[in-house]
Amino acid sequence: MRAKDNILSLLLLVLLSLITRTNAQNQYYSALLNDSLYFFEAQRSGVLPDDNRVEWRRDSGLQDGLDHDVDLTGGYYDAGNYLKFIVPLSHTLTLVSWGALEWYDGYVSANQIEYLHDMIRWGTDWLIKAHPSEKVLYVQVGDGAVDNNYWGPDTGIPTPRPSYMVNESSPGTDAAALAAAACASSSMVLRRVDEDYANTLVSHAESLYSFAESTTPWRVYSDSVEAAQDYYATYDYSSQLVYGALWLYRATNNTMYRDKASNYFDQFSLSTKRITIMDWHDQTGGVFVLGAALDNANTDKYKDAAEDYINTIINSGSGGPCSYTPGGLLWCGSQSGWSSLVIANNMAFLAAMFSHTVDDTSEYKEFAHAQLDYVLGANPMNTPYVIGVHPNSPQNPHHAGASGGSSLRNIDRGDTEYILYGAIVGGPDEEDRYFDERSDYRQNEVSLNYQASIQGLIAYQLVTDANDPPYANITEPRPEVHRPGESNTIAGWLIAVIVIAIIAGIVIAAIGVCLVRRRRHSRHTTVGELEKAQAQKSPSMPISKRISAPVSEPTRTSTQ
Ligand SMILES: *[C@@H]1O[C@H](CO)[C@@H](O)[C@H](O)[C@H]1NC(C)=O
Ligand SMILES: *[C@@H]1O[C@H](CO)[C@@H](O)[C@H](O)[C@H]1NC(C)=O
Ligand SMILES: *[C@@H]1O[C@H](CO)[C@@H](O)[C@H](O)[C@H]1NC(C)=O
Ligand SMILES: *[C@@H]1O[C@H](CO)[C@@H](O)[C@H](O)[C@H]1NC(C)=O
Repeated sequence: MRAKDNILSLLLLVLLSLITRTNAQNQYYSALLNDSLYFFEAQRSGVLPDDNRVEWRRDSGLQDGLDHDVDLTGGYYDAGNYLKFIVPLSHTLTLVSWGALEWYDGYVSANQIEYLHDMIRWGTDWLIKAHPSEKVLYVQVGDGAVDNNYWGPDTGIPTPRPSYMVNESSPGTDAAALAAAACASSSMVLRRVDEDYANTLVSHAESLYSFAESTTPWRVYSDSVEAAQDYYATYDYSSQLVYGALWLYRATNNTMYRDKASNYFDQFSLSTKRITIMDWHDQTGGVFVLGAALDNANTDKYKDAAEDYINTIINSGSGGPCSYTPGGLLWCGSQSGWSSLVIANNMAFLAAMFSHTVDDTSEYKEFAHAQLDYVLGANPMNTPYVIGVHPNSPQNPHHAGASGGSSLRNIDRGDTEYILYGAIVGGPDEEDRYFDERSDYRQNEVSLNYQASIQGLIAYQLVTDANDPPYANITEPRPEVHRPGESNTIAGWLIAVIVIAIIAGIVIAAIGVCLVRRRRHSRHTTVGELEKAQAQKSPSMPISKRISAPVSEPTRTSTQ
């Protein structure tokens, strides 16, 4: 009886420890997934629902579309401002849906399925509104020049907020094809819960794709909509046309789309084009990896292209466009100079995705894990570049609403008022340095498309039951760094003080010498001779110049 009890309690203990161990392994990534979806909630435009979790957000942008008599309320604000764009949103919805289709169980185990569906639907509801008739797609709401002069909460968003479209006379081939990809991929995730809505999305996807294809001459949307040029300019529509067709094939099983994709792939010679990093403006890498998983009928052309593409990018000795920072972050030339982590995450996403398609996967998985680990704290800054998860997390994202500030001129002043849980910032520089300054939109902005692939990667970590993220063990503070070319701020002040002291000493000594001489001269020489002697000795001009130089340099940095 006793022994039985003991065995029973032992069994219970083992079971309990097993359960808690599983929980312990996943709790960080579960929270990260939850936080990432919270960030999207913080970006919502329009009338917010009752279950809105972001207490500092209000209804906003309620007149959007009125200038064209259409309802363009809702959707997501793109970044730290209040503009809305179709292209980065469509890219984001497609990657989030792709990640969710592949690593759905990650969302299940983190209890985030409902939030995932809400997140996607908040975006697709707006895509549907932005596509009010077959050959019209609204691609932007808000004027960048007006909006970027405003720094403040969502209660004072400046007007006018014009809306911009592409249409039959002013096509946007890339935007329409990418929006088709977003509708098609989203339909597959949402079909699990709402068949009718999924069918609506598919019909928009087909109509958008036909708009993209049939409106000629083909042209990138930012050539039709000048207002987008300073923000999300595109240069090519070829990868989008293939990507849209592949997603339509996956969502409908209609081989017509598979064949369209294959034909465009050949027509645009996608596999032999200069290698570019997948980004909101270029889906070539996505085409290779998606095509490799979908199209087994058409030889191995997608798979071969994907292999070549990923290998060239992740092997720095391959003569490809990328290398690594000393800390191990993938660095792809000037493209990484802005939002470096996003580029690394996008490639990690493709590598992890591709590892499902090929047999020898270790290299791709290792690469993906290494990049994600860097993002989550295994870096020289001891910093998980996700907001709100660790004391070393970014403190000053370039985000007007979260900052609580109201003046663009004092953008760097004051603590951030609201925590943008889950948002990933742009990231460090080529030497792994990160400055965490609100005004630095290259390092510290947050945006929809920054969030797209890391969310999938987090779900991937949950599915593969990965170890805790590196920040779980970080106890050291983030080391202090200074911008290249700038001296250490404190040392700068010290040098200035020393220089001033020395100069002051020289001045006092000079005045002393002059006074002594003056006394002597006034006894023995004429006034005219005295003036001549003083003019020769006076060091006043060069000294004042030398004083002002070192003092003004450090004051520039000290305001931060
Ligand atoms: C998800 O995030 C919300 C908002 O921060 C929080 O209230 C909730 O507890 C989180 N849930 C999980 C499972 O982490
Ligand atoms: C078509 O789009 C262009 C570019 O946005 C715009 O200037 C033009 O007014 C639109 N045409 C119609 C009929 O709305
Ligand atoms: C497409 O085919 C797959 C595999 O046969 C099937 O699971 C899926 O339901 C089909 N999708 C549609 C929209 O018919
Ligand atoms: C964190 O520390 C624990 C306990 O020392 C260790 O088991 C674990 O592997 C560490 N995790 C990481 C990601 O370094």
